[in-house]
Amino acid sequence: MSGILEVITRFPEETQALAERFSAQLKGNEVIALAGEMGAGKTQFVHGLARGLQVPDGSVASPSFVLIREYRGRLTIHHSDLFRLEGLPETVNVGLEEFYEDGGVTVIEWANKIPGILPEQYLEIRFEVVDPETRKLLLVPHGKRYEALRWQ
Ligand SMILES: Nc1ncnc2c1ncn2[C@@H]1O[C@H](COP(=O)(O)OP(=O)(O)OP(=O)(O)O)[C@@H](O)[C@H]1O
Ligand SMILES: [Mg+2]
Repeated sequence: MSGILEVITRFPEETQALAERFSAQLKGNEVIALAGEMGAGKTQFVHGLARGLQVPDGSVASPSFVLIREYRGRLTIHHSDLFRLEGLPETVNVGLEEFYEDGGVTVIEWANKIPGILPEQYLEIRFEVVDPETRKLLLVPHGKRYEALRWQ
């Protein structure tokens, strides 16, 4: 596949710092799917994203019981983790879609648990565990509007 950019981080702080720099490019109405196994670093990335968007410290949590969390900064972040929703009947509406174009940034962990929940265009960030402190992050644009985004 072309257009995929990868980067290696060697500590959790490096993943956070990467996300913080990355967030400077965001303009609003982005949908970002964070993919990768448990403990891969998805929520660490959201911490960095929140700092980069000037969300007050301590706001980010793993949204396991609350379905969608909201953090207010330069842009509002809607943070969701769909891990526990596997097998949900198709008729149940999670309600994430209403945030996709509200001017904020929607960040979804485990979006693959609910087929069809992602819009046609979105940015996928894939996290791969290389060793206990090393991660490979892949930036995978789905759709034209995400192709210009870069690791910075
Ligand atoms: N380079 C790295 N980048 C990110 N996290 C790292 C790195 N090295 C080690 N870690 C550790 O890996 C863990 C990542 O946890 P995190 O909650 O971000 O995972 P997650 O992908 O959100 O998992 P889950 O699917 O359970 O929500 C943390 O304990 C973090 O300290
Ligand atoms: Mg997580």
